[in-house]
Amino acid sequence: MRIPARDLLPPLERYTERLLIRPFRRRDIEALYAAVRESQAELAEYLPWATKAFTRAGAAGFVRESMRSWREGKAYDFSIRLQERPERHVGNISIWHVSRSSRSGEIGYWIRTEDTGRGIATEATHEALRIGFGELSMHRMVLRVAVGNKASERVATKLGFVREGVLREEIQVGGRWMDHSVWGLLDYEYRRLARTDFRVENPDSGDPDRR
Ligand SMILES: CC(C)(COP(=O)(O)OP(=O)(O)OC[C@H]1O[C@@H](n2cnc3c(N)ncnc32)[C@H](O)[C@@H]1OP(=O)(O)O)[C@@H](O)C(=O)NCCC(=O)NCCS
Repeated sequence: MRIPARDLLPPLERYTERLLIRPFRRRDIEALYAAVRESQAELAEYLPWATKAFTRAGAAGFVRESMRSWREGKAYDFSIRLQERPERHVGNISIWHVSRSSRSGEIGYWIRTEDTGRGIATEATHEALRIGFGELSMHRMVLRVAVGNKASERVATKLGFVREGVLREEIQVGGRWMDHSVWGLLDYEYRRLARTDFRVENPDSGDPDRR
């Protein structure tokens, strides 16, 4: 299906307080490969593609596919960079359509191990929500988080996502089946949160262990 040009996300750089997030370019292959290689052990816990066998050719394939998906309006992958050090790749954040007719989308991310614990995933996801609900006029956006991925559950909670349920054994990672929790946010909930600068009323409520 051909997407009308007006419904395509412009391939522009976006800026947040500390970050620059932008579409991938062919010359990003080496920086992406370096970030994945350095973080492979941590990424492999939750991401099926991040095996020890991930190669430079794998990074090249990702960049090629990412550029094509953006052009076709299927998915929007962003390279996350720190404004103060823009040559270094610090992670990925992606937005894609789940259903165009229902205006629902999904967000996925990973952060280079050396840069975790500094609020980067939260800051990038905050921007992805602005793009999803603002530029793409989504009604609903979801995150799927492996049950037990405390850091990612925390990102969802801090941004006001509601934990909606569990998809049992949804994905196989390193030979092990994993349950995924689904976290959803609706456009009017997002607007309400944006008005209060994301002061989530009960930021621990989404995490069953914190109740
Ligand atoms: C999950 C991930 C994206 C988080 O990135 P990040 O930039 O460190 O995230 P942030 O710093 O924005 O927020 C992380 C929060 O989790 C908390 N956290 C981290 N590890 C935790 C743990 N083991 N238990 C509980 N909380 C934890 C941090 O303290 C922080 O919360 P706080 O701001 O209230 O202190 C990153 O660790 C990662 O890429 N992991 C591997 C791949 C992955 O899991 N991708 C996500 C798939 S859904």
